Amino acid sequence: MSDSASEETSESMADEFDTVAWWTATAVAELGEDHALPAACRGSGSPAGLDWLARSMGLTSGTRLLDSGAGVGGPAEYAARSYGVRPTLAEPMEGACQAARRLFHHPVVVSDGLALPFADETFDAAWSLGVLCTIEDKRGYLAQLRRTVVPGGPVGLLVYTRAVDELPDQPDGNAFPSREELLADLRATGLEVLDETPLADLPGSPDDWDAAADRVEEVVARRHGDDERWQRAQAQQETIGGLIGDGLVVGVLISARRTKN
Ligand SMILES: C[S@@+](CC[C@H](N)C(=O)[O-])C[C@H]1O[C@@H](n2cnc3c(N)ncnc32)[C@H](O)[C@@H]1O
Repeated sequence: MSDSASEETSESMADEFDTVAWWTATAVAELGEDHALPAACRGSGSPAGLDWLARSMGLTSGTRLLDSGAGVGGPAEYAARSYGVRPTLAEPMEGACQAARRLFHHPVVVSDGLALPFADETFDAAWSLGVLCTIEDKRGYLAQLRRTVVPGGPVGLLVYTRAVDELPDQPDGNAFPSREELLADLRATGLEVLDETPLADLPGSPDDWDAAADRVEEVVARRHGDDERWQRAQAQQETIGGLIGDGLVVGVLISARRTKN
């Protein structure tokens, strides 16, 4: 990738994951607390998906859970409320970290998932939702998740996979692996797959959940719809939504565990 292409890529990633993340937290403040969780989970699929992952990973009260690439912190908050886990969030975008701090009150570290600032075996479990498909060095990223959980500890992933060899549209900053490439990367980094399911096989979000997230998006669009950063983020989301709708990109939930050696 040329320097100007990579600058463009990081610009569109920053629009979506940094600027819009902060605008989202501001809109929640206007609409009320009950909008926080649905709005902050928009990047990661349905409550049913989070439940599937939490149960297959055996998350339970007191589990020290790392959420790498945590975004605005919705999934971590969901796991804390529903399963009593103690989450720590790591996320490279400052705006998303500030939004997560403002909406929920878990520890948040501004950090690249390729260089996590935690000692080996700090966590009982780790998950990473919708992040691997934005990373070129997938094995380096998975190795960091493996390193920071205890031996035998669960590692959960939501990965958007490429169902065809070539995509008609390649959204900036995304590198979707095929399912086979993903399984090979997991094997190579010492993560044993215990279970997997396509996200689409699980129930969608409840209507009131979707409606709350929609209201937050409407406020953000009303305030910032003329801003080219909102327009770039929107175009990016529409491209990815189109690929998923056409079945060319498929969301897969993976429950894995760190092998003991
Ligand atoms: C689709 S969003 C998902 C956010 C959140 N996990 C969720 O499910 O709501 C992808 C996230 O990956 C983060 N990300 C991108 N590159 C990353 C990296 N190198 N390390 C960790 N996170 C990264 C982005 O900043 C963004 O917050």
